[in-house]
Amino acid sequence: MTPPVTPKMSTERHSDADWMHRAIALAWQAGPEVRPNPRVGCVLVRDGVCVGEGFHAQVGGPHAEVVALRAAGDAARGATAYVTLEPCNHHGRTPPCVDGLLAAGVTRVVCACRDPHPQARGGLDRLAAAGVEVLAGVCEAEAAALLEVFLVNTFDDRAHVRLKLAASLDGRTAARDGSSRWITGPQARELVHRQRAEADAVVVGSGTALADDPGLDVRLPAGDALAGRRPLRVVFDRRLRLPPTAALADASRGPCRVYTAASQLGGAAAIALQARGVEIVGLDATGDQAFALAALRDLHRRGQHAVYVEGGAALAATLVDAGCADALEVFLAPKLLGPGRGLFEGLAVTSIDQAALLTIDAVDRVGDDLHVRARVRRGGSDVHRDH
Ligand SMILES: NC(=O)c1ccc[n+]([C@@H]2O[C@H](COP(=O)([O-])OP(=O)(O)OC[C@H]3O[C@@H](n4cnc5c(N)ncnc54)[C@H](OP(=O)(O)O)[C@@H]3O)[C@@H](O)[C@H]2O)c1
Repeated sequence: MTPPVTPKMSTERHSDADWMHRAIALAWQAGPEVRPNPRVGCVLVRDGVCVGEGFHAQVGGPHAEVVALRAAGDAARGATAYVTLEPCNHHGRTPPCVDGLLAAGVTRVVCACRDPHPQARGGLDRLAAAGVEVLAGVCEAEAAALLEVFLVNTFDDRAHVRLKLAASLDGRTAARDGSSRWITGPQARELVHRQRAEADAVVVGSGTALADDPGLDVRLPAGDALAGRRPLRVVFDRRLRLPPTAALADASRGPCRVYTAASQLGGAAAIALQARGVEIVGLDATGDQAFALAALRDLHRRGQHAVYVEGGAALAATLVDAGCADALEVFLAPKLLGPGRGLFEGLAVTSIDQAALLTIDAVDRVGDDLHVRARVRRGGSDVHRDH
């Protein structure tokens, strides 16, 4: 029988948070290619000096720990590893990072978040059992945002939703006659193109597609690293009202998919759109929330793990009611539109105690506009939840 091992539990040191901030910054360097995996960063430190660092850049590619260990070589012996996520303990597309850390002679491992994945967790316990000092929870709240998309994909089995709306200061997304171009200024619109580029798909409801005839393609200055991105353009359109002449049906601006009622498949409208290269997906779910959830699930399964929803107000309300508006990006312009369309039309709220509660993450000025980043709290907490 093997004797019980007393794990060497570590305590937080002054510079642990500083090195973890570096690991978090590295993790954010990963682009959309990393999905559906989480963004992870790693820094190896020996005698107060960084001897290797790296981040997980691409699904199927080396994990952050492996990149940092390769960079450090023999200098990893006796080092502390700062990792934003608990090192994995299972054979996935790559071997367990725990094995690599042990083989390299790392003597202390500090991580921000425990691995929420049932198959991959347990890395810290194995390291501790092997005599490595371990510490979890350093800068956990900051690092949790790195896992946001991954958590929704893994545990809700659907695409993560970043919901963007632009409104006047009196909360109108369109004037009484339905016109809404342009509520915000050029700087806010450039930021929107940047956020589009970071998504796997850009989604609108059919009301917006018909009222605005948007292209939803990425238009950024030539030379911008994100300028060439072509996220899938998507319409939720159960009655299949999108005309084949719509900008969204113009294949030269990028691929397009329409989610519609299954009963529309094979009809004249579907055939006309398909002739223009539009992909038509029929769903059996018909209720607002069920349809949205089915479409988000299908998007995730087809590889669109993070979607950017650009309204309108009816689809926005459905997503909040269905509990799948994971992140909100609201731009408020210094304008008043009086009577007009609100931000969330038809939200299931009739009294103040039913209000959807938000956590405000940031408020910035973008040109003349305000940019509010928020999350809808779920059952008293928010999307950075434990699993
Ligand atoms: N300021 C902004 O940020 C902004 C952004 C977008 C739009 N707008 C303005 O807002 C107006 C359009 O907004 P809107 O609220 O009328 O329309 P919308 O939310 O864009 O689209 C609503 C339509 O989407 C379809 N839909 C499909 N699945 C849905 C679901 N799960 N939940 C809800 N709807 C679903 C429905 O038609 P089916 O039943 O046929 O499927 C519904 O009638 C326009 O005036 C536009 O200019 C402003």
